[in-house]
Amino acid sequence: MGLLVGKTAVVTGASSGIGAALVRAFLVEGASVVGAARGAEGLARACLLPGLPPALPVPTDVGDEGAVARLFATAVATYGRVDIVVNSAGTLVRGPIEELALADWEAALHINLTGVFLCSREAVRVMLRQAPASGGVRGHIVQIVSGSGVHAWVGAGAYTAAKHGVMGFSDTLREEVRHRGIKVTDVLPGMVETSMTDHPDFAEREKLAPEDVVHAVMAALTASPRALMKRVDLRNLEV
Ligand SMILES: NC(=O)c1ccc[n+]([C@@H]2O[C@H](COP(=O)([O-])OP(=O)(O)OC[C@H]3O[C@@H](n4cnc5c(N)ncnc54)[C@H](OP(=O)(O)O)[C@@H]3O)[C@@H](O)[C@H]2O)c1
Repeated sequence: MGLLVGKTAVVTGASSGIGAALVRAFLVEGASVVGAARGAEGLARACLLPGLPPALPVPTDVGDEGAVARLFATAVATYGRVDIVVNSAGTLVRGPIEELALADWEAALHINLTGVFLCSREAVRVMLRQAPASGGVRGHIVQIVSGSGVHAWVGAGAYTAAKHGVMGFSDTLREEVRHRGIKVTDVLPGMVETSMTDHPDFAEREKLAPEDVVHAVMAALTASPRALMKRVDLRNLEV
């Protein structure tokens, strides 16, 4: 408890699954938290944790440039700085490639890749403007990618393309900002028990829990200031 006291975190995809679990954990650790997702009701629910100050819900479509700028402006106006950004918003598009509609392909790339770009760009703009915290770190961006960021996922070509794109973007981002005090960590979970995987096709699979991903994110966030955890490849022990 108390590992993130004095820190402000922005979490996208905060209304469900991994993002909602991150909001809970960050509040428990004492952070000020700004949660973003499109659906206002689910987001408001996820931002409330009995006995703790709530997270600030800011309904946001991560694919909307203006909305993302407003999200970060609200975080800075409310809490003064942004120390941690976790990009967890995402959508799973599946189907054999010969049946994949262009609109579905574009949605997969827009939310999963362009959304990460827009939020990371805004994060960097804010972090570069703020003074480093003790240890010289200005901020930390964590991308919730997927094993399909580095492996093929047969039947999920658009999702896999987007996640591979996130890896290339994030590797480049890391090298652009690391000498200016900003850490970038990619977390690549295997299958996790959330609404995204609540489908009979995945019923027999051994999955991680959202809290397992939270644990990996916390390990990256609490590494010593001079240590940069670039990538966490996370799998269920049985898979
Ligand atoms: N579950 C897995 O097996 C697994 C494995 C590896 C990686 N991941 C990745 O982990 C991340 C979180 O997934 P999850 O399993 O927690 O899924 P989830 O339970 O379906 O949650 C997805 C979240 O993203 C939000 N979202 C979707 N589109 C958005 C948009 N355009 N703008 C803002 N928010 C948006 C959703 O809220 P709204 O719909 O209200 O916007 C929701 O809060 C995703 O990036 C996913 O690809 C998941």
